[in-house]
Amino acid sequence: MKIIKTTDYYHMSRMAANILSAQVIIKPDCVLGLATGSTPIGTYEQLIRWYEKGDLDFSQVRTINLDEYKGLSPENDQSYRYFMNEHLFRHININLDHTHVPNGLESDPVKACEDYNRIIRENGGVDLQLLGLGLNGHIGFNEPGAAFEKETHCVDLTQSTIDANSRFFDHMDLVPKQAYTVGIKTIMQAKKIVVIASGENKADIIAKAFWGPITPSVPASVLQLHNDVVLVGDEAALSKIPE
Ligand code: F6R
Repeated sequence: MKIIKTTDYYHMSRMAANILSAQVIIKPDCVLGLATGSTPIGTYEQLIRWYEKGDLDFSQVRTINLDEYKGLSPENDQSYRYFMNEHLFRHININLDHTHVPNGLESDPVKACEDYNRIIRENGGVDLQLLGLGLNGHIGFNEPGAAFEKETHCVDLTQSTIDANSRFFDHMDLVPKQAYTVGIKTIMQAKKIVVIASGENKADIIAKAFWGPITPSVPASVLQLHNDVVLVGDEAALSKIPE
């Protein structure tokens, strides 16, 4: 594993964006695996800036996102499709038909997951997967205990996630209880993985995931078995890794 330590979130975002840009330049029709959450926002902002300067061309790029809430439409501002459109896609020259997020409106989980696995296969798999890390070591919606061998599947959200999300919805009934996520097997099949982490609250889980035992109770620990992982973190997030 390669480790890139930066001073702060801004520089972490620039480094991660650098790696993604290099991928796009080397292979203009590459498949990028993308994440939502707070960590990648700065990376996407940087990519948009370079696109606006004329340094990047996304016209042939294809994207596969990690996850989506079951039951949410693309127009719902809590959906991950909405997030991606707002934070990246609508600012660059990507063809929206080349961007993929699991279909939150597909009520049949078997169909939703099979469709998504087929999309991943038809695109030839992911060239570069960008990953954030949950405080409990989750990647995508693969929570502690998730089997390493799964592809796209439907997960029941934990009560704490449901409760935390409830503030964004008018009524408890509208809060998603399930999500579709690519599995750990799918993530591990990416040719290259870039993990980004910022802030002191990620320091413990970074140390545990990358220097602790490989176990389903820390899903990200499986990344130790991948042969092309770059960990890009700021000083705070990397403050507890061994010398
Ligand atoms: C997002 C995702 C999640 C986040 C993780 C970290 O698509 O799948 O696993 O990457 O929860 O979130 P942030 O970046 O908000 O700390």
